[in-house]
Amino acid sequence: MTSESFPKSKDSSTAIETIRVARAVRVDALRTRISTMSNCVPLVLEIGCGHGHFLTALAAARPAFHCVGVDIIAKRIESALRKCERAALPNLNFFRSEVGEFLEALPANTQIAEIYVLFPDPWPKKRHHKNRLFQASLLDHLAALSAPMLTRLHFRTDHEGYFAHASATIARHPRWRLTPELPWAFDCETIFSQRLPRHRSLTALCVDKPDTLPVHRGNAIENASKKNVNNSFTF
Ligand SMILES: C[S@@+](CC[C@H](N)C(=O)[O-])C[C@H]1O[C@@H](n2cnc3c(N)ncnc32)[C@H](O)[C@@H]1O
Repeated sequence: MTSESFPKSKDSSTAIETIRVARAVRVDALRTRISTMSNCVPLVLEIGCGHGHFLTALAAARPAFHCVGVDIIAKRIESALRKCERAALPNLNFFRSEVGEFLEALPANTQIAEIYVLFPDPWPKKRHHKNRLFQASLLDHLAALSAPMLTRLHFRTDHEGYFAHASATIARHPRWRLTPELPWAFDCETIFSQRLPRHRSLTALCVDKPDTLPVHRGNAIENASKKNVNNSFTF
């Protein structure tokens, strides 16, 4: 290392440490807020919830579910929180947060019943695909907070390439199984579904270990766990 490069690398390690500390502070603040939520099961999580239309409708239709929406854009979460206040639903919460930070802040024993990812930004250029929300690392995090054969994932996009990417990412993942036989659990219009009426949806189920994966034969799941697939979520 030259004497000129030393201060530069010191600066960059200071910057990395500052980012790390700021992230830890945000995760701690989320943990504190999450700890004040009562009755958090069964938990429905919407990632990138935008203005909160979908989750507010879901929470109203299904009072037994605790619904949590996360989005990184403050203005969208403010709008979602206004809906939450107007609807006065005790089973609805919105958090301004990056999803990875939010998942880290959830108690380790959390078990999510349903997950929705609706119209995530498609990042259409190849060099930007790494920015897509839907990645194997997100599926890892979600699987750690999910119940095998019970937790359902719902993904919807208007972008063919993103749909193919999401399908392939799930198909390759050892803890998730595409489930064309399972219906979309709840539906309502969102800002983006109105703007983008031509879209495609998929559902997936959390599975246990690769050696107990159900095998798809046509539209059926064929293994000993088949009977669990349509069970309701009971934690
Ligand atoms: C195209 S909008 C769709 C909003 C909503 N789901 C709908 O259908 O109207 C995608 C949303 O994902 C949010 N988002 C993107 N990356 C995120 C991340 N890493 N964590 C949380 N939210 C994220 C954006 O802020 C944006 O509101």
